Amino acid sequence: MANNGILVLGGTGKTGRRLVSTLRARGAEVRAASRSGEVRFDWDDRSTWAPAFTGVRAAYVVDLQDKPGQWDAETQIRALAEQAVAQGVERLVLLQARVHGLVGGKDLKAGEGAVRESGAEWTILRPNWFFQNFDEGVLFDAVLAGELRLPAGQGREPFVDAGDVAEVAAAALLEDGHQGQIHELSGPASLSLAEAAALLSEASGREIRYVPVDHQEYVDELVSYEVPADYALFVADLVAQIRDNHNTATTPTVERILGRPPRDFADFAKSAAADGVWQD
Ligand SMILES: NC(=O)c1ccc[n+]([C@@H]2O[C@H](COP(=O)([O-])OP(=O)(O)OC[C@H]3O[C@@H](n4cnc5c(N)ncnc54)[C@H](OP(=O)(O)O)[C@@H]3O)[C@@H](O)[C@H]2O)c1
Repeated sequence: MANNGILVLGGTGKTGRRLVSTLRARGAEVRAASRSGEVRFDWDDRSTWAPAFTGVRAAYVVDLQDKPGQWDAETQIRALAEQAVAQGVERLVLLQARVHGLVGGKDLKAGEGAVRESGAEWTILRPNWFFQNFDEGVLFDAVLAGELRLPAGQGREPFVDAGDVAEVAAAALLEDGHQGQIHELSGPASLSLAEAAALLSEASGREIRYVPVDHQEYVDELVSYEVPADYALFVADLVAQIRDNHNTATTPTVERILGRPPRDFADFAKSAAADGVWQD
């Protein structure tokens, strides 16, 4: 019997959850996979991999490159891609990140070679920082506290909507024309953290300000909250990508693929506020 399913790793996460909804709305047979997903998939437990890939034609791959702890993306993604192809998976769409150089000593594009050499059709997505870091991710607590204390200087970032990333992923999984391509995905405008804070304040009615801090001071602060030192350095380096304006140019890719402009930050902030996410 032909493989028909689409497996979404990170299926409970920011892009994965939205991708599952988008694919279902388009009539695809989808399985949301993660440690707590409807299909159990654990990067750290290889006995979960083969059952997850049974009957799967195409997969969206989200790795653990930005999480604390040891993560060898090259080895893990190579093993995963081999397993997938051996089970008849024809297409892999890999989520990486739009970064420059090493981040906290890690290469956040280290998984790309494994997917490109897998023998499957491949597409790589490299998005900028997601809007959703502010309402469900790493910056949520800072927004609630009213202070974005970050070592981002006056740098500018073209934050992107995780929903737009998911729609591009759906296109790459379901349609032709994306094979062998790397899509760099930005939002419609590069914002400073001060501008982002002002838009969040306006939408939420809370006072939220950006407080630039020194790189080492930020690392020390995280460590004082019992964040492991290597992970604190990683996060600070990730923010330094914004400070150094490494990925500050917007890209036309979301609009080219989706046929409409990417969502803007003000719209995201208004709708998150209307959903009550930042209410006490
Ligand atoms: N956040 C951003 O701004 C951003 C920007 C560009 C690129 N990215 C990339 O996007 C990827 C996801 O980052 P995110 O912050 O947006 O996280 P996320 O997708 O919101 O959450 C992580 C997902 O991975 C699953 N997961 C965690 N540990 C797992 C394990 N051991 N085995 C299997 N699944 C596991 C989680 O579900 P369970 O807990 O149920 O397992 C969850 O679905 C990263 O590779 C990151 O570099 C993120």
